[in-house]
Amino acid sequence: MADTLNIAVVGLSFGGGYIPALCAHPSVGEIGLCDLNEETLRAVSEKHGIAKICRYRNLDEVIGSHRFDAVMLLSPIPFHADQSVAVFEAGLHCACTVPMATTALDCERVAAARKKSGRTYTLLETSLCTNEFYFLQDMLRRGELGDIQFMRGVWYNHLDQHPKWWHGLPPMHYITHPLAPMLALAGRTVKKVSCYGSGTLPPGFEKGYGNPFPVETAIFELGEESLSVDFPVYGDQKRPLAIEVTSITANTALQNKETFDVFCSKHSFFWATHPGDEHALVRRTLNEPKFADKSNPAVMMKFRSPNIRTDIPDALRNLSSWTPQTNLVHEFVTACLEQRPSLYDIDAAKAFSLPGILAHDAAMRARKESSAAEQKENK
Ligand SMILES: NC(=O)c1ccc[n+]([C@@H]2O[C@H](COP(=O)([O-])OP(=O)(O)OC[C@H]3O[C@@H](n4cnc5c(N)ncnc54)[C@H](O)[C@@H]3O)[C@@H](O)[C@H]2O)c1
Repeated sequence: MADTLNIAVVGLSFGGGYIPALCAHPSVGEIGLCDLNEETLRAVSEKHGIAKICRYRNLDEVIGSHRFDAVMLLSPIPFHADQSVAVFEAGLHCACTVPMATTALDCERVAAARKKSGRTYTLLETSLCTNEFYFLQDMLRRGELGDIQFMRGVWYNHLDQHPKWWHGLPPMHYITHPLAPMLALAGRTVKKVSCYGSGTLPPGFEKGYGNPFPVETAIFELGEESLSVDFPVYGDQKRPLAIEVTSITANTALQNKETFDVFCSKHSFFWATHPGDEHALVRRTLNEPKFADKSNPAVMMKFRSPNIRTDIPDALRNLSSWTPQTNLVHEFVTACLEQRPSLYDIDAAKAFSLPGILAHDAAMRARKESSAAEQKENK
């Protein structure tokens, strides 16, 4: 087994956030940086002291250099599927940020390329490495949450202020941040979805993706199928379970947010609403007040983000800039070197990415049906 891995990072805006962990990781050898934008490439290289020889303008150059064992794709969403397939076809390991793709067909294409290459895939879903997620996973494992009764998550952002390719992105195509950790807690996959669109986009935004909505809200029914051995089901796998997700992307006054609440039979978790607020853990008691009571004694604990660092090398644990990306880098690197499937392998990636694709399709269908019904009424 090789003891180091040479890795290239493609897309250096959000992708720049992965570089401190790559530089600090004891099993990472050469690091290549790749971005279409010369200025970004130069600035990020200089900031991290990466040698000139390891700068690339596009993925073809990275692959053609034959210097790398693995590629991390942090490029815009429309490139994810094609670039993942190209990385596998070149015989390299591939990590890709969310979502894995934006059509069911493309998810299958990436899965087929991964299978053919036999290389490692990792979906870089940061919300599976937050302290909040680890905290809830641990409570669930110890039986302190009890049975999960329902979960509700949101993703709010101002994509109208992002680079152009984000404008008009279907809101449900970017819901893995709340959905993935909720599915990982449930240990089950989505069986059925209903979804509606809402609101209006700024003028011109519909052109990008043919999506008319800045808001989509969906209910997902979970099936009995397991997500993966790494995210076990606690309790009865046949229990009815639904998850609600709302995604708001533009034209709306709001604070950015990617959070979720978990309603359980023993303790429920409510994520802090606004910056400066605290999370709340509510315990079910036998003498709960009948009606809403602001001094509700059932609220047993309020706290800021718990501090959890899981099992990572000291060089990473002690990074002053620890972020969820640190753990994702470690998982990807060790999975590649140990030649094992990663925790966030292709099946999990599909289970996290497909429901949003199907939800947006459902919202578009609902819109078409209601305008057809209106036209019929007006005849
Ligand atoms: N929490 C998270 O996990 C999180 C947060 C933000 C963004 N993201 C993901 O990161 C990706 C990039 O988002 P962003 O906000 O950095 O976007 P961005 O538009 O700000 O930056 C994209 C960067 O990639 C470069 N680029 C564009 N096309 C390229 C190509 N074909 N090859 C190489 N470089 C290319 C651009 O020059 C730019 O520097 C998206 O897929 C997004 O979903 C994840």
